[in-house]
Amino acid sequence: LEAPSSPLSPSTVADSFVYAFDIDGVLVRGGKAIPEAIQAMRVLNGENKYGIHVPHIFLTNGGGKTEEERCRDLSRQLLQDIKPGQFICGHTPMREMAERYGTVLVIGGEGEKCREVAEGYGFKDVVTPGDIIKHDSATTPFRKLTPEEHANSRVRDFDEVTIDAVFVFADSRDWAGDIQIMLDLAMSKGGRLSTRSETFDEGPPFYFSHNDVVWSAAHEHVRLGMGALRRMFEVTFNDLTKNKGKVNTHAFGKPQVPTFEFASRLMKQWRHTEHGISQAPKTVYFVGDTPESDIRGTNAVNKKAQNDWYSILVKTGVYQEGTEPAYKPRVTVDNVLDAVNHGIEREM
Ligand code: G3P
Ligand code: MG
Repeated sequence: LEAPSSPLSPSTVADSFVYAFDIDGVLVRGGKAIPEAIQAMRVLNGENKYGIHVPHIFLTNGGGKTEEERCRDLSRQLLQDIKPGQFICGHTPMREMAERYGTVLVIGGEGEKCREVAEGYGFKDVVTPGDIIKHDSATTPFRKLTPEEHANSRVRDFDEVTIDAVFVFADSRDWAGDIQIMLDLAMSKGGRLSTRSETFDEGPPFYFSHNDVVWSAAHEHVRLGMGALRRMFEVTFNDLTKNKGKVNTHAFGKPQVPTFEFASRLMKQWRHTEHGISQAPKTVYFVGDTPESDIRGTNAVNKKAQNDWYSILVKTGVYQEGTEPAYKPRVTVDNVLDAVNHGIEREM
């Protein structure tokens, strides 16, 4: 254990282990904290019988807002001050691609928020579906821009624009319109909307911030997620091109190992700047509700990493008690409070 540093004193900071949390279905559901989550955060922050503070980060596939804004939301929900230095959402690792492309189409989220996020990451020229519909309202027959969307959308002559890549930052709010525009681009000659390829293999690359087919929201049953949008897009593309075309799609987020490696780097930085700890943790406890994303990814990174990535599955989200998870966690517990207590007891 390391000496406490202000402002966390008088509790002692655990230096050999760390926690990483999924958000939806673990800490939050439908915009509200899962009841045990607030107590779990208190326990991590020193309200445990050992008086230790356990460093922790958050790794969600969700997104659609800046990391700062998401942290403000989460701080309010969990009654704890959460900082961007301990937070990764689905699109955070996409910032490393800002230099690679000139003009990009950004899809998903509310209003202009995803454009703001992309510009904040340093993407130079960011287009939205609204810009395309403003240019040609026949693009999406049943989707009309609201006066506010019309005002926010930018005027461009898309006959002259080449879209170099498409980034799906957050869940689509208009699946039909967004899939239509994505298909137009996938079937274009090199990202020029007004063109049609003869070979259907020269569209821009498509990057999805995650691949979750379902996720845990307020409804008692899981809800469709971005992975479902990706499937609909790919299947329809294959139908339209009679399986002759080729669409180039990639997913970020969990369960991709690079996302967990990104989390590992953030964790290193956070433990160093916030707690003055420089050695790597022996154990990383990852708490998630989705076997296909959280448990699969944690187990995969565990095979590669020097330290022990210990997967904990909770029963408050996608995973349903009595079913067999497709990827097996090291332990299954009822909720996030049990997950936190499990790790602390195992360590102390
Ligand atoms: O859209 C968000 C969802 O797919 C999953 O979020 O926090 O469970 O990774 P999370
Ligand atoms: Mg989840």
